[in-house]
Amino acid sequence: MTTSLPLTDAGLAGRLTDRLALVEQRLLEAASHADHLADATSRHLVSAGGKRLRPLLTLLTAELGDGSDPRVLDAAVVVELTHLATLYHDDVMDSAPVRRGAPAAQEVWGNQVAILTGDLLLAKASALTARLGPDAVLIQAETFERLCLGQLHETVGPTDGADPVDHYLQVLADKTGSLIATSARYGALFAGCDPEAIATVTTYGEKIGLAFQLADDVIDLTDDGGLTGKRPGTDLREHVPTMPALLLRRLVASDAATDADRRVLDLLDGDLSDDDDLADAVRALREHPVTERTREASEARANEAVEALADLPAGPVRDSLALFARSLVERSA
Ligand code: IPE
Ligand code: IPE
Ligand code: MG
Ligand code: MG
Repeated sequence: MTTSLPLTDAGLAGRLTDRLALVEQRLLEAASHADHLADATSRHLVSAGGKRLRPLLTLLTAELGDGSDPRVLDAAVVVELTHLATLYHDDVMDSAPVRRGAPAAQEVWGNQVAILTGDLLLAKASALTARLGPDAVLIQAETFERLCLGQLHETVGPTDGADPVDHYLQVLADKTGSLIATSARYGALFAGCDPEAIATVTTYGEKIGLAFQLADDVIDLTDDGGLTGKRPGTDLREHVPTMPALLLRRLVASDAATDADRRVLDLLDGDLSDDDDLADAVRALREHPVTERTREASEARANEAVEALADLPAGPVRDSLALFARSLVERSA
């Protein structure tokens, strides 16, 4: 596998490509089971592809120190296994039919098997984390706690009186920023970087996590599914909140709303089980300025992430981290 990141430094690109290939091997090993069913279900999403952004980030921040430390590779595998586990669970929660261009696991084996497969992958991630020592076990536990709370708070929605947009930003930070921050942190930590550098990349990771998830909300409306491997409008159909929908709802609740704004919101709040109705809702929201506002919010978070890198030594690793932040916002998938 070559990195999805256009790296200008040939030495760095070569090292990351080689290590990503090792991550890939290790992921397949971790998803292998003597039990035939567990083997098939665990390999399902590993083999279906994915961008491997989190392990790439771990490998990249490790280049700020000794990137060849074997613990870096273990940590890169841990973050992708953790991510994978959450995808199995998330697709059950979101009733998502497609993931990574393949049928979601629960479509093939049912909800129970899909949930247990996520748990199996978490078990593998935990065993590997134990090898990294008690600090890593604690980081992993705290990360996963945030991730679960993010998913939980998304599910139950804001409490009475809380601002839905602020609530949503916290949800995104917890469900996505937490693991991306940890991916960046693990790399610097196990490569032996000093505490300041570890803190810097952790902050950076948290911010790009938010930028990434906001960009995901836009892509869900603008892509035809060919690039993302997911079905566009899945969240809209299930009435799962996303930033464009929340911004529109806030606008409609204000005095500034027009009839056109209200019509778009009525579309979103309607029954979207029919494919044509869903396509109309997706199109109307995509063309509404709230989608451009969401893209701008994503870009602003990416800019903040790049600014946070100022404390790191100038060089190809810092440049690549900046490039990484931009590519998450500008990505078409
Ligand atoms: C999907 O993550 C879940 C989100 C946090 C948006 P990715 O977009 O990194 O998914 P893969 O790993 O490439 O499939
Ligand atoms: C995924 O969130 C976040 C986690 C798996 C923790 P979403 O539900 O927003 O992501 P997609 O759109 O299904 O990839
Ligand atoms: Mg989902
Ligand atoms: Mg979800």
